[in-house]
Amino acid sequence: MNLPIFKLEDYLATREFSAPYMFCASDMETHTMSELLAMADEECQQLWNTLDFRYTETTGHPLLRQDISQMYADSITSEHVLCFAGAEEGIFCAAQSLLTPEDHAIVAVPCYQSLAAIPGSLCETTPIHLHPENQWQLDVEEVKRRIRPNTKLILINYPHNPTGTLIDSATQHALVELARANDIYIFSDEVYRLLEVNDQDRLEPIANVYEKGLSLGVMSKSLGLPGLRIGWIATQEKAVLHQCSQMKHYLTICNSAPSEILSMMALRAREQILERNRQLMRTNLRQLEEFFESYADRFEWVRPQGGCTGFPELKMGGMTIDTFADQLLDQEGVVILPASVYDLESNHFRVSFGRSHMPEALSRFQRFVDGL
Ligand SMILES: Cc1ncc(COP(=O)(O)O)c(C=O)c1O
Repeated sequence: MNLPIFKLEDYLATREFSAPYMFCASDMETHTMSELLAMADEECQQLWNTLDFRYTETTGHPLLRQDISQMYADSITSEHVLCFAGAEEGIFCAAQSLLTPEDHAIVAVPCYQSLAAIPGSLCETTPIHLHPENQWQLDVEEVKRRIRPNTKLILINYPHNPTGTLIDSATQHALVELARANDIYIFSDEVYRLLEVNDQDRLEPIANVYEKGLSLGVMSKSLGLPGLRIGWIATQEKAVLHQCSQMKHYLTICNSAPSEILSMMALRAREQILERNRQLMRTNLRQLEEFFESYADRFEWVRPQGGCTGFPELKMGGMTIDTFADQLLDQEGVVILPASVYDLESNHFRVSFGRSHMPEALSRFQRFVDGL
């Protein structure tokens, strides 16, 4: 294996658990155990109270897979769902299952590093660079130009981390048609799905609309339950899931038994959880937007359309975003994520608006900027 240092996780590892204000968290505000247990329906309560600690099924608890499948079209049944330890393991297994050194993959960047690094450790990859001048939008014509005879996989992520942008359904459709015409898989990281700023912008899961589409989902982001470490891939291609499960035998083997039941509780109560989370995200985003409007001489940003992260650019001449981030942390205890962790040389940085303490983090951020 030939993987580079995971810059983003490495950067966060030394800050996330010690700094008071995570102003770049990639997940929504969480819930406590007692809150989650209070949401449980009768069946889940029964499963919880009689739970033991044997190994669980590699593919995931049958009822959990059934609950997950119900978030997709009828063509996706529990047999079209494979559970993983978070989304991360899903990315790893899918790339390992699909790609060989003879293949080629295309990935939109910037992105969550695994989406580029894991394919990149297995075969040649071509990055498609998203640009702020173009509202970070995906150029399907560019994807078309980059396709080679051996292109096997295209990796995308919408709503997008870090920019918070979305593509529209016409673009999704064009991408699917392009992939279909060239017999290419699409791995669609949909961990922020259901957290769109406007509900009508929500895209169909790729697994619904493309027979070679893999939809990546997780409890971590929109639902705010990353500590459960439960993710999944849904796809019409059962053979790919089978290969992924073979890979999983070498990794976590199976999911954590308590997490499976807790995930079922949360998924069955997802409308309640999402309602709270969307409200918090939208309120925070309005506040953030007001800030960037009044500080437009110092920052430029593209308004997010979904997820809980945005990617503004620092426009204060003479200061790099790395220095800015270090001083902000020292003086105010606020963590942001500089573009260098995404291998970008620009002065962009990730901020987030999913946590209840965002207003406090923002006011400290503002105080720091005012003091410069
Ligand atoms: C876009 C994206 N995909 C996947 C992951 C991995 O998620 P998990 O922590 O659930 O494994 C992350 C985590 O930040 C992410 O932002």
